[in-house]
Amino acid sequence: MGSYRIAAIPADGIGPEVIDAGVEVLRALERIDPALHLEVTRFPWGSDYYREHGVMMPADGLDALRSFDAIYFGAVGDRDVPDHITLWGLRLAICQPFDQYANVRPTRILPGLSSPLRDCAPGDLDWVIVRENSEGEYAGMGGRAHRGHAIEVGTEVAVFTRAGVERIIRFAFELARLRPRKHLTVVTKSNAQRHGMVLWDEVAVEVARDYPDVKWDRELVDAMTVRMVNAPKSIDTVVATNLHADILSDLAAALAGSIGIAPTSNLDPSRRFPSMFEPIHGSAFDIVGKGIANPIGAFWTAVMMLEHLGETDNAARLMRAIEHVTASGIRTPDLGGTARTTDVTAAVCETLAGAPA
Ligand code: IPM
Ligand code: MG
Repeated sequence: MGSYRIAAIPADGIGPEVIDAGVEVLRALERIDPALHLEVTRFPWGSDYYREHGVMMPADGLDALRSFDAIYFGAVGDRDVPDHITLWGLRLAICQPFDQYANVRPTRILPGLSSPLRDCAPGDLDWVIVRENSEGEYAGMGGRAHRGHAIEVGTEVAVFTRAGVERIIRFAFELARLRPRKHLTVVTKSNAQRHGMVLWDEVAVEVARDYPDVKWDRELVDAMTVRMVNAPKSIDTVVATNLHADILSDLAAALAGSIGIAPTSNLDPSRRFPSMFEPIHGSAFDIVGKGIANPIGAFWTAVMMLEHLGETDNAARLMRAIEHVTASGIRTPDLGGTARTTDVTAAVCETLAGAPA
């Protein structure tokens, strides 16, 4: 315990800026906890690597990652390389083979920040969205035919397996059970999609029987967007398909103040493979190189990584330091402030250094 090997993949856009900042706060944590050792190895994969080598990561990339305790990931996506190449060449090329089927996205209004919603106090919005991360609409099934002809066709088949649905819904019930409100909302679209989504609903009913202590309800994904805006207090833990949760988690982050603060983890709960931790904001081309990227998403992501490694005290310590800094008003422009990435990073490091161990 205490010694971990971290694979850092900063990749594209503002990824390198926020991962550098994240590694800096992890180093600050190491300085106050002599038992914590993080050996960080950086991998230069991503769109620049693609321009040079024709691939987003080398063919033996997964083998290189396999023995690490965790992967700390920046962002993927480039102005000049098509999104499906960057995404499938790197992020999904890691998530699927490493069976990181549970994508966990906590959202709440951090101290000092506010929601764009009128009448939404910080405690009113405290959610965790569990995203199915291995199949559904991102399964990669489908194809193109009759290319270039008028009858050209493209199919994108959403795949729902009983095993895949059951394991994510069970994961979500387990998580809901650990939260104070013990409440789970299962998001669906079974009114329109009558095969995969009906299986999803049926499995939810079956799994729910094992969790009589967790209250749960079901919501159609379109109605869920309305509920998130109009009744944030009615929501606690949420489970949704890969695509539905992708969309809902962006809305959730914006409602909590900024997409710049939101973290995520791609978990293999069986721990056969390393899990991967990343801020959800993505490449953010408009601010690359300007030094104003909000590093809070990467810091909160580091908290999730420490929790996964079993470093509960250090995770809590870092989260307290983040909250201290957001409360103190040091904010990047996405949060209406004028602070730079380095200002926020320095403030978190100083708070850690000054905090009682
Ligand atoms: C996310 C992102 C990705 C996704 C993009 C970069 C393809 O939006 O992690 O939510 O849709 O999975
Ligand atoms: Mg997204």
